[in-house]
Amino acid sequence: MTVSQCASRAVSTRARATTRASKANGRAPRTIARAAVDAETGIAKMRDGIKEAARENLLTPRFYTTDFDEMERLFSTEINPNLDETEIEAILNEFREDFNQKHFVRNDEFKAAADSIKGEPRRIFIEFLERSCTAEFSGFLLYKELGRRMKKTAPAVAEIFTLMSRDEARHAGFLNKAMSDFNLALDLGFLTKNRQYTFFQPKFIIYATYLSEKIGYWRYISIYRHLQQNPDEQLYPLFKYFENWCQDENRHGDFFSAILKARPEFLNTFESKLWARFFCLSVYVTMYLNDHGRSEFYESLGLDTTQFNMHVIHQTNKTTATIFPQVIDTYNPEFKERLDRLVGVNTQLKAIGQSDAPDAMKNLQKAPLFAAFAADLIGLLAMKPVDSGSIDFANAESDPAFMY
Ligand SMILES: [Fe+2]
Ligand SMILES: [Fe+2]
Repeated sequence: MTVSQCASRAVSTRARATTRASKANGRAPRTIARAAVDAETGIAKMRDGIKEAARENLLTPRFYTTDFDEMERLFSTEINPNLDETEIEAILNEFREDFNQKHFVRNDEFKAAADSIKGEPRRIFIEFLERSCTAEFSGFLLYKELGRRMKKTAPAVAEIFTLMSRDEARHAGFLNKAMSDFNLALDLGFLTKNRQYTFFQPKFIIYATYLSEKIGYWRYISIYRHLQQNPDEQLYPLFKYFENWCQDENRHGDFFSAILKARPEFLNTFESKLWARFFCLSVYVTMYLNDHGRSEFYESLGLDTTQFNMHVIHQTNKTTATIFPQVIDTYNPEFKERLDRLVGVNTQLKAIGQSDAPDAMKNLQKAPLFAAFAADLIGLLAMKPVDSGSIDFANAESDPAFMY
């Protein structure tokens, strides 16, 4: 049964149920049930034109919160003499330039392209847009709050955060507009109030956001360059915007790099090396599992999911090696072997989750898989690391090996 068949069956079942209920209570049939599921994709709707947000799990993009008082201390020049004010000013001026102010302008191509994507590809396309929009919006919320909280203690840094939140709002808004082309936008106000926020200590926020900005850069630019070389695979105009868009992410990442440089204890202790590898690993594994769970999407763009992922991981790792004290040896064959095993285990876990077995049975079936999953994660973390952190940024970024 296809998704649209499932969807129409779901709609008609609901409609029948509503009609039965209405007959029973003597009222006219309501049409609410029809708005509950998108007829073409089977995607649940919150209301007409608005998608119900995907259920949160370990792999979905999160909203973050942190210890804002400690963040203030981190950026206070009185407490933190290593903070290079000239560099901060230079970064601030770059953000003030607002290079992409006029970049995110839509045209008629969008709606027409969305209408031509049908069936299962339509569903996975919407899923991709939702994940991207949620991730961008998460950045917006965090940066906006940081900008607001640090206004008094570190005005220059606060303005940088506010300007980064401007960029992320643009990105999220552009993606949400794309979702409305599919008649399934997100209610971002509702998400702000109702989604769970994950607490991270400031230094973990900095490692994690640095990595997510840089991996975002490499994902966007790699998709852009692939489609530039294969214009026939360009099934929706969004990707044409990725070239300038990814430069925003690159600049955001560079700001966090400057912050990391100002805190030697984040980079040169035994503990910091372990955290650096841990965050690299969690970002790479999350992307690998997510993308392999929906490889049809990447294939619909003519990309090979594994090749695309490995390319993004290698490049992000090289960029990260310019600042993190240790990174993962992504070229070690064991790295990919273990990632592939994790994909296999994750697929089995998903299948068990979707089966009709009783919960107790499901838990019993899942237990050895969780153990296998944990063993591979520990194995990845225990791999011989690559010592890094000393490469000059400018040289590394212009290295032709960084091109897709
Ligand atoms: Fe962004
Ligand atoms: Fe960003």
